[in-house]
Amino acid sequence: MADLVVGLQWGDEGKGKIVDLLAKDYDVVVRYQGGHNAGHTIVVEGKKIALHLLPSGVLYPHCQNVIGNGVVVEPHSLVTEMKQFGIECLQNRLFISDRAHVILPIHAKLDLLREKLKGKEAIGTTGKGIGPSYADKVSRVGIRMGELRDMETLKQKVQFAYRELQILAQAMGETIESLDEIVCSLREVSEILMPFVCDSVHFLWNAKEQGKKILLEGAQGSMLDLDHGTYPFVTSSTTISAGACSGSGINIREVQEVIGIAKAYCTRVGNGPFPSEEFGNIAQEIQTKGGEFGTTTGRARRCGWFDAVALKYACNLNGCTQIALMKLDVLDGLEEIKVCTQYEYRGEKIDYIPYDYSEVKPIYQTFKGWDKTCGARSRSDLPKEAQEYIVALEKLVGVRISIVSTSPDREDTIIEDKV
Ligand code: GDP
Ligand code: IMO
Ligand code: MG
Repeated sequence: MADLVVGLQWGDEGKGKIVDLLAKDYDVVVRYQGGHNAGHTIVVEGKKIALHLLPSGVLYPHCQNVIGNGVVVEPHSLVTEMKQFGIECLQNRLFISDRAHVILPIHAKLDLLREKLKGKEAIGTTGKGIGPSYADKVSRVGIRMGELRDMETLKQKVQFAYRELQILAQAMGETIESLDEIVCSLREVSEILMPFVCDSVHFLWNAKEQGKKILLEGAQGSMLDLDHGTYPFVTSSTTISAGACSGSGINIREVQEVIGIAKAYCTRVGNGPFPSEEFGNIAQEIQTKGGEFGTTTGRARRCGWFDAVALKYACNLNGCTQIALMKLDVLDGLEEIKVCTQYEYRGEKIDYIPYDYSEVKPIYQTFKGWDKTCGARSRSDLPKEAQEYIVALEKLVGVRISIVSTSPDREDTIIEDKV
């Protein structure tokens, strides 16, 4: 069997904290989509660890960690990240799919060039080459991790993607490194990575047969999903639960619990519609208290109120069986807390996500604030107003909140019952 952790908003909900917390009871943790655009933070006894490609089970010696076929891998970043833990220590604990696609330096360049060309319409990508790498995969000219084994055919393949970039770069007066330089740097990292590259689907099926418990770790969030998010201001993968099956090879009938992760408010990094966005003092306060600066790019995250319409939509897309409500403590001390319960759209009140999402205006319900929830470890430790807030969100969204997080630390978590 497998359980799934998935982001319900625009990413950075706190997936890393929850996957790390749950991973102690699992044998295998699997990343199944996205790439090093993700930044998953884990805090243990005050020490902060940021993970980008390595699954968040990596801190537990008993956990095996899989980078699945649906992930796009930038090999240099992966090696850098692996070195933090010691390459040797990861042996028999890290498995990289030979079907996962490679992000080449030219993909990152292309990402940045396209953003530059878009000017004011830019998506605000992380600039890591995620989109161009997935585009090559879909165009069937992509390079897979398994191909790093053979440097001769690799050079021919890189040439395809290289030619396109050369034309674009020339037109924009940009310089790019030579094909030989690219292939040479790939040769260096591939020697380190090859011992970890395997048929991950086969590995996971074997694990399943041995009765091992598998935890699937989503990256990004449902509102950034390529199909169901706020297109074109989205990432280039299927971030909702459906992506977990195609990106890992675990079939749909194996997935049991779908744990949706949501902040007690909302954030978004990059451009695109965000109906409940706040500006001014409130936004500033949430941003500062919540440390709302990107784990991957350091960019300030836009902040706003909890959006129950978007959250319900995300829960339906994912089939959430439970929700982990994160960062409740960040709202501590606010006099009033708002929740978006409906949208106004073309003169009507609606409770769905219309095609022209940028036109919606939020309709709010206001809740009384509370003094302090920070560090609480049981629901009864929470002030009455915070308890009422949680119950109200559960009602609005229609899914039970089984976990409440009250600080970045692993221990400061209220777990209602076992997952
Ligand atoms: P992810 O991408 O979903 O894993 O989330 P990030 O790691 O990018 O961002 C979440 C941030 O919030 C990290 O800095 C976490 O350490 C922090 N965090 C997680 N849970 C809580 C919480 O309950 N309270 C507070 N104050 N911070 C939290
Ligand atoms: P985690 O896993 C928040 C956003 C980018 C941009 C859009 C497209 O840490 O939650 P991309 O580089 O993917 O082509 O950028 O998606 N984005 C994220 N926002 N958290 C993330 O990951 C994100 N990964 C991508 O800011 O708006
Ligand atoms: Mg993040």
